[in-house]
Amino acid sequence: MNFPENIEKKFLEIFNEKPLLVRSPGRVNLIGEHTDYNNGFVLPAAIDKAIYFAVSPREDRECKLHSFDLNDNITFNLDKLEFSKKGWPNYLIGMVDQLIKTGHILKGFNCVFGGDIPIGAGLSSSAALEAGLGFSLNHIFNLGIDKLTLVKLAQKAENEFVGVNCGIMDQYINIFGKNGHVLRIDCQSLDYEYFPFEFDNISVVLFDTCVSHSLASSEYNQRRKECNLGVDLIKKDNPSVKSLRDVSIALLSSYQDKMDPIVYKRCKYAVEENVRLLKACECLNDGNLRAFGDLMYQTHFGLSNDYEVSCPELDFLVELIKNNNAVYGSRMMGGGFGGCTINLIENDSIADVKEFVTKSYKEKFGKEPKTYITKISNGTEIIRE
Ligand code: GLA
Repeated sequence: MNFPENIEKKFLEIFNEKPLLVRSPGRVNLIGEHTDYNNGFVLPAAIDKAIYFAVSPREDRECKLHSFDLNDNITFNLDKLEFSKKGWPNYLIGMVDQLIKTGHILKGFNCVFGGDIPIGAGLSSSAALEAGLGFSLNHIFNLGIDKLTLVKLAQKAENEFVGVNCGIMDQYINIFGKNGHVLRIDCQSLDYEYFPFEFDNISVVLFDTCVSHSLASSEYNQRRKECNLGVDLIKKDNPSVKSLRDVSIALLSSYQDKMDPIVYKRCKYAVEENVRLLKACECLNDGNLRAFGDLMYQTHFGLSNDYEVSCPELDFLVELIKNNNAVYGSRMMGGGFGGCTINLIENDSIADVKEFVTKSYKEKFGKEPKTYITKISNGTEIIRE
């Protein structure tokens, strides 16, 4: 389906005027999982799956939105923002709420949106909604909000209005993504650096367990708490320690006997993951994708055994292709408890690996996984004015 064309057509049909057309992508994360809220590093990329927004300003205070995929509508007034029981509108109302709270002068708007980011697969459709609408409103109302501020507002929309305590990675990569590049974000300083990530013979392939991560949000908050408990203990003797980012493996080890074993495991994973990520970037500089892939396997091991956010389906998918020479690396991606594995696979072998994975997964779990071959793309951008 040609999404931008269809979204625009629907907009013309409903509102009978020409809109601004914006593309807001989903994301993958190559390495650096559960590190953003620990002030560590992440290495995500925006992908070719996206939500498209058609938006135009109104003269009154009404906001009229149509979800193309759900064929559903919502209308709300800028002076009366309320949590919606429908669920999906909250990512959008939450963004409007942040813009108003930070003193921006808005008018009402018309909007049709939809696209091909699978929901619940861990590809950040929520960040695409928040940041995509924020970007569009920034443009049509000339709000003059810089990119990093937009990222922070979109994250706050999710934290405060939707009520999910996520880190900054998803909204950041949505806005800053760049064709053919991964982005190393330092979640402490919020600086970033692009690394080329385009290879003739290798693609980023996702296998979707199609397991919806029902545990994800409660366990996510629990992991955040456990990491903070570790920091609190270390901080007592080391006042300069503000987060796990300031903790070395040696310092953490010296607390092994004093720390709750579960808390210790969580902290160990997060501290090691930062070291791994920095090594992974060196591998990219050296053009050593095999070594990069080995680090992805180590990340999976840590997420599964120390951080304990994997699930049997994710572990199965990684184990299944681990010894295949055409697969350079594989690991669970995102918050965990379902969603996708991210895999680096030689292009010539993708079809075979896909067939093998589909068959084996179906035999084991009685349902087919989905496969997405992704292309690393730009962050949120205007398609047509
Ligand atoms: C979710 C959150 C991110 C990040 C990842 C785990 O995607 O939204 O902020 O914490 O989980 O790396």
